[in-house]
Amino acid sequence: MSEREHWESVYAGKEPADASWYRPHLERSLRFIEETGLPRTAAILDVGGGASTLVDDVLARGYSDVTVLDISERAVAFAKTRLGSREEAVTWLVADILKIELPEQRYDFWHDRAVFHFLIEESARQLYVAAVRRALRPNGHIVVATFGPAAPERCSGLPVLRYSDEGIHRQFGPDFRKVGGSSEVHVTPSGNEQEFVYCYCRMPEPRGSIPC
Ligand SMILES: C[S@@+](CC[C@H](N)C(=O)[O-])C[C@H]1O[C@@H](n2cnc3c(N)ncnc32)[C@H](O)[C@@H]1O
Repeated sequence: MSEREHWESVYAGKEPADASWYRPHLERSLRFIEETGLPRTAAILDVGGGASTLVDDVLARGYSDVTVLDISERAVAFAKTRLGSREEAVTWLVADILKIELPEQRYDFWHDRAVFHFLIEESARQLYVAAVRRALRPNGHIVVATFGPAAPERCSGLPVLRYSDEGIHRQFGPDFRKVGGSSEVHVTPSGNEQEFVYCYCRMPEPRGSIPC
């Protein structure tokens, strides 16, 4: 089964609110976005946003340039239906983050909750980091959340790599400036606990520029 087929079958078999990763609101992610102080016109990309409500919440806070990217058409359809006419305010990309060529230096904020940890192969992680380097603006913000060391070894039936926040940072390299990190205990809809770890970094500035 291909990656895309896997995720389509996941979303065919359950309501978004029954998925293990579901939260009514991604409060931690929202806090990271708000604390950047970026203007409401900032370009926000949610990678593997799926059916999550992060898009609803950033729209409600007045952000006007929001892109949701997901490999699953069904996941995106769930989010669009929930948003109703507000879905027209969002750019939707049904694509594999490892294959799509995103526009250069387009985004101010890159958000990923629970996609990076599926990248088992080193070559896949390199493609992911290359996509970030291409699409995020210099000094742009990136928050990546993965399963932490105490979390299960599989998510959605797939093996994952588990990270500390330092471990996530190492995947991006020392020229990404680490700003923060945290962990949270996520309680799944069926009542199990999963440790999520968040790493917040800034994209490198071009050589020779003065960091702000
Ligand atoms: C575990 S879910 C997390 C969904 C959402 N970020 C959240 O926190 O509620 C992973 C999501 O990433 C999507 N996904 C998995 N691999 C992907 C890839 N290579 N490119 C784009 N999306 C991907 C899946 O379809 C799914 O919606």
